[in-house]
Amino acid sequence: MNAFRVNPTELMLRYRKLGKTEAEISEIGYGAWGIGGKQWLGGEDDESQRALQRAFELGINFVDTALAYGDGHSERLVGEAVKSTFHRIYVATKVPPKNRVWPSSPFTPISEVFPYDYILQSTNESLSNLGVEQIYLQQLHTWTDAWVDREEWRRAAENLKRSGKIRFFGISVAEHDPDSALKAVQSGLIDAVQVIYNIFDQSAERNLFPLCQQRKVGVLARVPLDEGGLTGTITEDTQFEPGEFRDSYFRGDRKRQVVEHVEALKKDLVGVPGTLPEIAIRFCLSHPAVTSVIPGMRRVETVESSCRAAAAGKLDDRTLAILKRHAWDRNFYQ
Ligand SMILES: NC(=O)c1ccc[n+]([C@@H]2O[C@H](COP(=O)([O-])OP(=O)(O)OC[C@H]3O[C@@H](n4cnc5c(N)ncnc54)[C@H](OP(=O)(O)O)[C@@H]3O)[C@@H](O)[C@H]2O)c1
Repeated sequence: MNAFRVNPTELMLRYRKLGKTEAEISEIGYGAWGIGGKQWLGGEDDESQRALQRAFELGINFVDTALAYGDGHSERLVGEAVKSTFHRIYVATKVPPKNRVWPSSPFTPISEVFPYDYILQSTNESLSNLGVEQIYLQQLHTWTDAWVDREEWRRAAENLKRSGKIRFFGISVAEHDPDSALKAVQSGLIDAVQVIYNIFDQSAERNLFPLCQQRKVGVLARVPLDEGGLTGTITEDTQFEPGEFRDSYFRGDRKRQVVEHVEALKKDLVGVPGTLPEIAIRFCLSHPAVTSVIPGMRRVETVESSCRAAAAGKLDDRTLAILKRHAWDRNFYQ
């Protein structure tokens, strides 16, 4: 961890090296799922553009998007924002599974999910949406180690790197199943993994993180705020628009469960400075395996809050010990 960049509001973002790449990326990366619109409703493109620009001003130099986020809409917004800044921005995107099934099953042949030609074609689409010549980090948007020895993805990654269309290659690990990518990390063929890591799901700490540290593979901590659960703003009466992702994620009595867990957390955190989302972000940054935490952000206000959290630095051992007790084993994606 090194290199500081001073920004206009005196918030100090720090930078960490992404695995074995040459990139020093900001401890906060810009999660760009929400701005894609289709699966997260209620955002506005103008506000998303302002949020992206503010992020770059504050020193965020890493963005995580995907072809699947609003069918290319997120990539197009990111592309516009990157063009209009003079800062160097590292963009990561993803190849969606061809069968559009998340998570992938070890029993599904890779030919149905990531055939060789399809990975190349998907990358071309992303290049065009982003309006760039090269993608810094291309990732497979789902993964199972059952495919680790298959030549389809290996050859595609090699070809894309050789042609200069991508610089590095990574995978996005299946929900709540960090061990499903251990062989991929061991293979030495991937440069970064993207994995759920937050106060509720700490499972990546067990095997994946130590292995990534040992193999010098970058770690992008995704869903740091449990899709909004850890913002502390969800109540039993919160309504999401029918059809949007969070309407399903927080369905049935799940909002009540979230409220109970958040109340218990807040009680234990009395006296710890900062808001719950800021503490949740600092929790992720406190693990040395993590390169960058990528909260999903659609508003200037949340960008500033995430940068404030990172500027406050790692949590102390006492607070981390409290948070350890709040791991919560469940799967709301199903
Ligand atoms: N399979 C995959 O590869 C996969 C799956 C999920 C996510 N991801 C990646 O991970 C990123 C993060 O996950 P996510 O967006 O799903 O969920 P998330 O980051 O856990 O939660 C996003 C929510 O948190 C709010 N928020 C963000 N920063 C905040 C702050 N500092 N204070 C208060 N609220 C804050 C956002 O508000 P506003 O929207 O109002 O700004 C949004 O409602 C995604 O954007 C995407 O890049 C990848």
